[in-house]
Amino acid sequence: MANLRFLLWFLLVGIWNQYFAFVESLGMNWGTMATHPLPPKIVVQLLKDNGIQKVKLFDADFDTMSALAGSGIEVMVAIPNNMLAMMNDYSTAKKWVDKNVTRYNFNGGVTIKYVAVGNEPFLSSYNGSFVNITFPALKNIQNALNDAGVGDKIKTTVPLNADVYDGTVPSAGRFRSDISSQMTQIVQFLSQNNAPFTVNIYPFLSLYLNDGFPIDYAFFDGTSNPVVDGSITYTNVFDANFDTLVSALKAVGAGNMPIIVGEVGWPTEGDKHATSAYAQRFYKGLLPRLAQNIGTPLRPNQYIEMYLFGLLDEDYKSIAPGNFERHWGILKYDGQPKFQIDLTGQNRPITLVPAQGVEYLSKTWCVLDPNGNDMSKIGDKISWACTYSDCTALGYGSSCNGMDVNGNASYAFNMYFQVQNQVDGSCDFGGMAMTTTQDPSTAACNFTIQIKAAPFGSASERAPCVTVMILAAFILVLFFA
Ligand SMILES: *[C@@H]1O[C@H](CO)[C@@H](O)[C@H](O)[C@H]1NC(C)=O
Ligand SMILES: *[C@@H]1O[C@H](CO)[C@@H](O)[C@H](O)[C@H]1NC(C)=O
Ligand SMILES: *[C@@H]1O[C@H](CO)[C@@H](O)[C@H](O)[C@H]1NC(C)=O
Ligand SMILES: *[C@@H]1O[C@H](CO)[C@@H](O)[C@H](O)[C@H]1NC(C)=O
Ligand SMILES: *[C@@H]1O[C@H](CO)[C@@H](O)[C@H](O)[C@H]1NC(C)=O
Repeated sequence: MANLRFLLWFLLVGIWNQYFAFVESLGMNWGTMATHPLPPKIVVQLLKDNGIQKVKLFDADFDTMSALAGSGIEVMVAIPNNMLAMMNDYSTAKKWVDKNVTRYNFNGGVTIKYVAVGNEPFLSSYNGSFVNITFPALKNIQNALNDAGVGDKIKTTVPLNADVYDGTVPSAGRFRSDISSQMTQIVQFLSQNNAPFTVNIYPFLSLYLNDGFPIDYAFFDGTSNPVVDGSITYTNVFDANFDTLVSALKAVGAGNMPIIVGEVGWPTEGDKHATSAYAQRFYKGLLPRLAQNIGTPLRPNQYIEMYLFGLLDEDYKSIAPGNFERHWGILKYDGQPKFQIDLTGQNRPITLVPAQGVEYLSKTWCVLDPNGNDMSKIGDKISWACTYSDCTALGYGSSCNGMDVNGNASYAFNMYFQVQNQVDGSCDFGGMAMTTTQDPSTAACNFTIQIKAAPFGSASERAPCVTVMILAAFILVLFFA
């Protein structure tokens, strides 16, 4: 009997620990740079259905926040880079905090844990535009949180690209010399406020940007080219990158500062290494390490707070970094799974729960009309269609690559037609195109149907929403009192 009780207790603790390891660590980035973003309510249900308890946003959109209210999901809200200059003024920062943080701070509201000040503001490609305005914005926002009395539970952080530090080996990690004074100020301030450092780490980009990068070093299943750093042997670039940051922090006197991985993930389209198979290999290595709190060589046996990038594909992102940029989702644009992934890190052969209640446009595609006129302009028409819609799947290494020019035209025309919500006149292309209800998809290449665009919420629709939220909170309080 005693043995049985012990066994039961042991089992419960086991389940509890497993549950907690998962709940404690896995977050998700929810970006909305899409021509047809899924309605926030559908996304919040999707997060819940898949057991995702933490989410990182890129702004503080009201509809998104309303959908998150009462969900219990922990949220990192954000101030976009183009608002950093404004936040150098303390009263503006205070207003932002009032309007976008403290307003949701009630029972049944939104569980905000962090405010991200900027998004990778020190990227070299910004030419230093945000270098001098990020720290003052950070200071003002944290001080406004402190003054509002929520600074003990809501912390600021600055999500930074891993290019803010470098080092030949991890132990030699230092902040980039051109921004070292700003980085030192930021780290000291975060430290004084018990706030975390946030870094985005992309093994895919290491591979993409460096010819000759050993491919297996981007994953977690061993490598023939380890990096030896003193007594430590690094077998994957993620650990090496993370530990380079640990060393850089140590060099400015903050060796124990908590580190959040703000973005990590693998794209599935747009490059020869951006495929579902590689993405699966990456997550199959990453997620179990996370669930088992393996940590890294310099920070062993600890949980790393981590946000996958990202939840959904975003067809409106700039492709300046590469065609893969619109395909980071573990789900497609419409919330349908792309591949098997077990977010609890147990590598069970399971797929995610898809988005529920998604409404699509009618099953009508736009394709090249074989009897159309003036085929000489076909190249121009394709380029034009692709300027206003997402044709990245046509490129080298992508799912629709290798079609003939007619196939390219049909694909491009359809993408344009869908982005235009299939409105009359958007499938013409100088008489070269026609609509069809026959799905032109092939086994490899999906001719998509867009989802119905969300109607813009009006102010009158929004006001009752908050009232209902407050009322619901009030009833809950009464119920439990
Ligand atoms: C609150 O955040 C939203 C979305 O990021 C932004 O548009 C708005 O200006 C913010 N409100 C204030 C008062 O700054
Ligand atoms: C940075 O400078 C480059 C080269 O001068 C220029 O092409 C680019 O547009 C600039 N980017 C920004 C964000 O100012
Ligand atoms: C940032 O400030 C430094 C020191 O005041 C100045 O030298 C530099 O030009 C500034 N950079 C930008 C991009 O404004
Ligand atoms: C189809 O489009 C892709 C991407 O733009 C291009 O690389 C390819 O050459 C095109 N194929 C033909 C036959 O034009
Ligand atoms: C294309 O994608 C849509 C949306 O995710 C999906 O419902 C459909 O089954 C796919 N079609 C093919 C032929 O793969």
